[in-house]
Amino acid sequence: MKMQRRAFTLAALATPFALQAAEPVKVGFLVKQAEEPWFQDEWKFAEQAAKDKGFTLVKIGIPNGEKTLAAIDNLAAQKAVGLVICAPDVKLGVAINRAAKRHKLKVMSVDDQLVDGAGKPIADIPHMGISGYEIGKQVGAGLLAEIKARGWKLEEVGVLRVAYDQLPTGRERTMGAADALKAAGMPAANIIDAPQAKTDTESAFNAANIAFTKNAKFKKWVAFGLNDEAALGAVRAGEGRGIKADAMLAIGIGGSQTALNEFTKPTPTGFFGTVLISPKRHGYETATMVFEWATQGKQPPAVTLTSGVLMTRQNQADIRKQMGL
Ligand code: GLA
Repeated sequence: MKMQRRAFTLAALATPFALQAAEPVKVGFLVKQAEEPWFQDEWKFAEQAAKDKGFTLVKIGIPNGEKTLAAIDNLAAQKAVGLVICAPDVKLGVAINRAAKRHKLKVMSVDDQLVDGAGKPIADIPHMGISGYEIGKQVGAGLLAEIKARGWKLEEVGVLRVAYDQLPTGRERTMGAADALKAAGMPAANIIDAPQAKTDTESAFNAANIAFTKNAKFKKWVAFGLNDEAALGAVRAGEGRGIKADAMLAIGIGGSQTALNEFTKPTPTGFFGTVLISPKRHGYETATMVFEWATQGKQPPAVTLTSGVLMTRQNQADIRKQMGL
């Protein structure tokens, strides 16, 4: 009798373990703008990592703070081990960190580094993002080279900075571009800020329209913003006001489908180029890092900064191949 009961107890204990071992490890990948091609690409490469390493990726779009916290609870309910996040507002950092800790989830940020109440990066959340200021300077250098190639005089060129300054990487990127232009002799007064309400094409379009109306004295323009959508919004707004490809020079940041669509149009538009950054690294490597952190105790580096390369209509096929895209 005693023996029998013991055997029964062991069997009862063994079953949940066996079940647990068979269940795949889950890692969340939460992004602020799921419809944006950049984030679609990140997800695609994170999926590839999941396939290679043997975990399940849970993709959730988090357009606002409420959805963000609900998504973290949802991941915990699904027994995920951790998450990668690009939050809709970096000031959600403390709340995100608290929710992840409460559920014992590993958390790492991608693209937009999370900050605390004082605006300082949260040290215990590892981050992978671009070196914003450096990439911005590359945008500026690309614009300067083409301004020269077109024989434009700096004084006669309006500079549209599509701005989303509440996001630190957004501010760094566009300030880097503006600083590169100023360092080459662009008058500071020619730089026009066009604040956008969101980081999509429509918001950039609206912001650019207002700026063009107010600054009609400029007949030639260069434009940039934190991503391709920002640069594209400026190009579309310019087209609507007769500022066409011969008078508009925009360089974005990203290099995903938004830029490729422009490059493959039969006639070149004012969207001259983009600094191609790596959704492959951001998607594949962050998902892998969180998986290995949760399952093998391998702590990701505190900050990983990735680089970019100028891509235009002419060199896009070669460059994308070189970058493994
Ligand atoms: C921010 C932008 C995105 C994209 C990423 C790249 O999140 O909003 O459009 O540029 O950075 O890191």
